[in-house]
Amino acid sequence: MKSITINLPQSEMPRQWYNLGSELSMQPPVDAAGKPIGPEALAKIFPMNLIEQEMCTDPWTDIPEPILDILSRWRPAPLRRAVFLEEYLKTPARIYYKDESVSPAGSHKPNSAVAQAWYNKQFGIENIVTETGAGQWGAALSFACSLIGLKCKVYMVRISYDQKPFRKVMMNLWGGECVASPSTETEVGRSILAKYPDTPGSLGIAIGEAIEAAVSDETGKTRYSLGSVLNHVMLHQSVIGLEAKKQLALAGEKLPDVIIGCAGGGSNFAGLAFPFTLDKMHGAEIDIIPVEPEACPTITRGPFAYDYGDVGCQTPLIPMHTLGHDFIPRPIHAGGLRYHGMAPLVSQAIVEGLFAPRALKQMECYEAAMLWANTEGPVCAPETSHAIAAVIQEAIKAREEQREKVIIFSYSGHGLLDLAGYEKFMAGDLTDYALSEEDLQASLQPISNYPKP
Ligand SMILES: Cc1ncc(COP(=O)(O)O)c(C=O)c1O
Repeated sequence: MKSITINLPQSEMPRQWYNLGSELSMQPPVDAAGKPIGPEALAKIFPMNLIEQEMCTDPWTDIPEPILDILSRWRPAPLRRAVFLEEYLKTPARIYYKDESVSPAGSHKPNSAVAQAWYNKQFGIENIVTETGAGQWGAALSFACSLIGLKCKVYMVRISYDQKPFRKVMMNLWGGECVASPSTETEVGRSILAKYPDTPGSLGIAIGEAIEAAVSDETGKTRYSLGSVLNHVMLHQSVIGLEAKKQLALAGEKLPDVIIGCAGGGSNFAGLAFPFTLDKMHGAEIDIIPVEPEACPTITRGPFAYDYGDVGCQTPLIPMHTLGHDFIPRPIHAGGLRYHGMAPLVSQAIVEGLFAPRALKQMECYEAAMLWANTEGPVCAPETSHAIAAVIQEAIKAREEQREKVIIFSYSGHGLLDLAGYEKFMAGDLTDYALSEEDLQASLQPISNYPKP
């Protein structure tokens, strides 16, 4: 039998999350005057137990038992070897993928959604408000809130709301409420609609709407939740890489030569890469590649700067690679990769030379997704197709170099609710979008006045 899946017994599930921040020279979030903010500045947005986790510099945090109980419904996630793609490419590389598509919501997102919902509930919160790009995070948080007993409201970026209608149904069936963003429900939404009535929306706008909705609730029982970018989200996702390390060892491999993940806000990439990054810091030779769309080139073209996480400028100033918080990416189908910023932890690791970011075109990614479906079988999410396209590039490079490299990537989600994009690709109706230097400079303009990291 050719197919290879490496399952980890449930008893081997990680009991602690890993924080790479303990190894990096992190800069603090600051206010407009450049003064580091304290935990109280975030108290209306997040519950204090998650704020503490956000600011924690310890390398390890115990995972509470009730969270493990929920994660054990689908974790440990399988590590699979893409033997059929290897054969097709005639590559000497061994390609492994961590299959996060097996979660109930179909992606890695529930790893953090469950933890966030649980900490909110512990703190006495009753309602969570969030944003979603492609709908994966909104679905994951609706699922987690349903199990944990919280109400969930989701502002979904307009273009994805229209492209992926069944994601909304999924949120609804887990009790979540979903509105298209920009909406007329918030100041942020109304001001954007007044200027750009036909806007496809952006994650920065949806985040702005969700924060506004959370902080303006006077009961004090509502908080905001973010599906990526923040330190505590990277922490929760570290189970991906911690499991993968054990599974690679079970497969008889030492450390990988190449690690790849698509990067929107950075969480699935970080989840896989961070536990291995420590090995790289200790001398292991590993190419670690976060992959983004050319239409939203945050880490390949955006400077490392202080910027707001949302269009409404309600977050503190965060040190990160950014395209400017007003940046509205073109309507590519990888909705989860349309974010102007990148996680401070991922950004700092890039600054420290640990990662080698790459930007790819939408069409190349769809071609990779089609090849994947016709060799390995599964239909991947458009976000995940960016990782697969980079894997193909690396596998071809290994063939040219005649090197038996071990490549591992994060299979962040399935694309069974993203078929409209595939339909358009097959009909020849998709295009590539490049960001002009002029547009980039225009959207970076506001950050020139902010404090510098
Ligand atoms: C399947 C999938 N992969 C990747 C991403 C990108 O997010 P992140 O960079 O936080 O992993 C998303 C975001 O919605 C997603 O749905």
